[in-house]
Amino acid sequence: MSQQPTPPPAPDVTAPVRRLDAAELPACLSLSKDREWPHEDRKWALLFEVGEVYGIDAPDGGLAGVVVATRYGTGVTAISMMLVAERFGRRGLGRRLMNHALEHCRTDSFSLTATDDGRPLYERVGFRTTGLCFKYTGVYRPAPQEPTGPATRPARAGDLPAVLALDAEVFGAPRDQLLRRLQTFGEDFRVVDGPGGIAGFGGCWRNVDNTVIGPVVAQDTAVATALIADLAAGAGGECRLDLEDRKPQLLDWAAAHGFTAGSTTAVMVHGADLPGDRSRLFTPVMVALG
Ligand SMILES: CC(C)(COP(=O)(O)OP(=O)(O)OC[C@H]1O[C@@H](n2cnc3c(N)ncnc32)[C@H](O)[C@@H]1OP(=O)(O)O)[C@@H](O)C(=O)NCCC(=O)NCCS
Repeated sequence: MSQQPTPPPAPDVTAPVRRLDAAELPACLSLSKDREWPHEDRKWALLFEVGEVYGIDAPDGGLAGVVVATRYGTGVTAISMMLVAERFGRRGLGRRLMNHALEHCRTDSFSLTATDDGRPLYERVGFRTTGLCFKYTGVYRPAPQEPTGPATRPARAGDLPAVLALDAEVFGAPRDQLLRRLQTFGEDFRVVDGPGGIAGFGGCWRNVDNTVIGPVVAQDTAVATALIADLAAGAGGECRLDLEDRKPQLLDWAAAHGFTAGSTTAVMVHGADLPGDRSRLFTPVMVALG
């Protein structure tokens, strides 16, 4: 008679949640591989720099679960990379990690985008759905006979204070450290000049097999699409845009310029409504960071 393999011992739901450091990035990548997520090493490296990575050890080695919390002052924490190894699923580890992040960060609001797998857990700990986020990918293609949009130009070091001021107004919580880091982490960072200062800014960064266009902050859709078009044209090849259903004009623009909608996630918030003026926030840096 063939013997059944022994199931792995489960970590206790009271197993300690501990802060991980960047040396444990390979263990995070192994865990993401377990859930068939891509090998996003640059993204993880940035998350370790700007966020707090928490994990629970697996009794058979490596990590049983992980979550990333990126805090912007006392206003907003972006939650991301919530992962529990398949063999330890549905035993309370996800909830334990999330409760740890909520209790530890204590910001007015928490935000995330949820896969279908993650959403039931988030609802149970008090997140509410506020919208949908669509992942668009493709190679940018200008539309024929399109009127020229506002001119964009590469950002200069001297633009940074204006970029940070506009971002603080729109995002409603300080992303200074992240935006400063993007100046070198990213491939390109552009601004549009307006009569009273900058009318918008946008950046892009290289992930495993595409260039992510974000963040894009702009006074209106015309400025946002000018930034996205120039960033995507400059990047060449496959690009990714994370677009929310609250921006239907931008969804139409993306579809008309070479992008196709892929997976959908739910935009979820815990605590107070998100601060700032989100009508001028067109794409996040990445969904993991807001
Ligand atoms: C989502 C994920 C992190 C959940 O982790 P987990 O450790 O299995 O979740 P828990 O056992 O702590 O579940 C917490 C609660 O949510 C419920 N729940 C969790 N996943 C569920 C699912 N897929 N469907 C229905 N309920 C679910 C549990 O029943 C539990 O409720 P209860 O405490 O009232 O019984 C895990 O399934 C995972 O890693 N999935 C793949 C990666 C992923 O999609 N992550 C989410 C990214 S947004």
